[in-house]
Amino acid sequence: MQAFHPRYYAIVPAAGSGSRMGSGQPKQYLALLGKPLIHHALQVLCGVAEIEKVFVVLSVDDAEWRRHDWSGLGDRLVPLFCGGTTRADSVLAGLRAIASLVQPTDWILVHDAARPCLAEWHVDRLIRDLAQDEVGGLLAVPVADTLKRADEHRHVLGTVARDCLWQAQTPQMFRYVMLRRALESAQHVTDESSALEAAGLHPKLVLGDATNLKVTYPLDLHLAEWILRNREE
Ligand code: CTP
Ligand code: MG
Repeated sequence: MQAFHPRYYAIVPAAGSGSRMGSGQPKQYLALLGKPLIHHALQVLCGVAEIEKVFVVLSVDDAEWRRHDWSGLGDRLVPLFCGGTTRADSVLAGLRAIASLVQPTDWILVHDAARPCLAEWHVDRLIRDLAQDEVGGLLAVPVADTLKRADEHRHVLGTVARDCLWQAQTPQMFRYVMLRRALESAQHVTDESSALEAAGLHPKLVLGDATNLKVTYPLDLHLAEWILRNREE
């Protein structure tokens, strides 16, 4: 029966240092509307009925997690202190840590801790659009700007046609065993989809929107705050 009724789990890589924020503190713990930044996405994921557990992959020496109160998020939230040196290493370490709990065909939703404006409808659409898919896929938005390729002196070499170009976001949703195998053989990937692509597979793009931004630079934190505030109202 299991093969016909796969379960859903989330893995949230949160073992990065946030070096591009330049804040001296990993960005997942920066304050955003009075809560640690990561709290916002965890709250959404923990509130999705289909998701059995939300695993947060923290760095081995993370001392900050236990300073905050996560009890409001319920008992589906599970911290794992097994992060690696890259995002892909952290996700793979999380997948290995949960091996005994999951079935090969269960779905894994990987979501960046650094995307605090995840909305319930983003997750619902991803789950709904991919439920019957063999491989899985990811939230993404079509590229809107005209794109330039430049040399190292910032002189334009040409314009890159933007038709068919999409910006990848998270969550990215794949079957446990396919994702684990792909990440075990992939090199230098910055998202799960790239690992599946390297294995010759073709993940499906699910239309998201620009509000699901990744907080990378200080300005992004202000944008995230604005988005969440306006959503509340
Ligand atoms: N991440 C992780 N383990 C790592 C590196 C990154 O779990 N070794 C996580 C981050 O915590 C973040 C997500 O992967 O939630 C996306 O990575 P990114 O935005 O690059 O975050 P950082 O690596 O923390 O930031 P920076 O690259 O600026 O240092
Ligand atoms: Mg990084």
